[in-house]
Amino acid sequence: MRKNIVAGNWKMNTTLEEGVELASNINEALKASKHNCDVVVCVPATHLVSVNGVIDRELLGLGAENCSEHDKGAYTGEISAAMVASTGAGYCIIGHSERRQYFGETNEQLLAKTRQALANGLTPIFCVGEVLEQREDGSFNQVVRSQIEALFALDPADFAKVIVAYEPVWAIGTGKTATAEQAQDMHANIRAAIEEKYGKEIAGDTSILYGGSCKPTNARELFSKPDVDGGLIGGAALKADSFMGIVEAFD
Ligand code: 13P
Repeated sequence: MRKNIVAGNWKMNTTLEEGVELASNINEALKASKHNCDVVVCVPATHLVSVNGVIDRELLGLGAENCSEHDKGAYTGEISAAMVASTGAGYCIIGHSERRQYFGETNEQLLAKTRQALANGLTPIFCVGEVLEQREDGSFNQVVRSQIEALFALDPADFAKVIVAYEPVWAIGTGKTATAEQAQDMHANIRAAIEEKYGKEIAGDTSILYGGSCKPTNARELFSKPDVDGGLIGGAALKADSFMGIVEAFD
């Protein structure tokens, strides 16, 4: 059976000191909390080693926000999946809409990044999602399908290790959440595409997270939908209290 997962994406926020404090506050809160989901924080690459040192990995998973599509070598400033894995991290976000939009990441690159993450033992959290114009012109189902199809070159055993995150771009950081019904419809569309390619078992076992203005006040309703298996949380992941309010929506 697929897992419920709540993952934080800190983006380009927190100094090292602030990040370590936030991670240890979340870790502390998790010790006393009753929740029925895996919990992960995806943090800036500069914080990985230090955060790994203050969390209890049975309680809290650790991930990076990006990795290179290359193995190693002359790519100044880039961080390889092997480097990420060597910090102790177990997850890596790939293809966040901000990376697609501001850094021009293409489907081919994202497939290569996913392969790098998998080859280094990292669980990819692969993001898909349409922009407002595509929501309004009705092409959103097809757009998201083609984003997920970029991974269909993977062997079934590899695809089975991927976590998918549906993040409608118009809902990210805007306070405008997709309705639980809109999220459910898209998650079902994504699962159907996976089923067509990889069959019922892999599709049924794939965790599909929702991201975009998810908060303690709307998490429960979103997570109650059958195909919504958790959340990828931006702004509300930057405070231990609000992050825990979302984690505890899975009680
Ligand atoms: P917000 O929760 O701030 O809308 O961000 C969502 C997101 O982009 C998580 O990856």
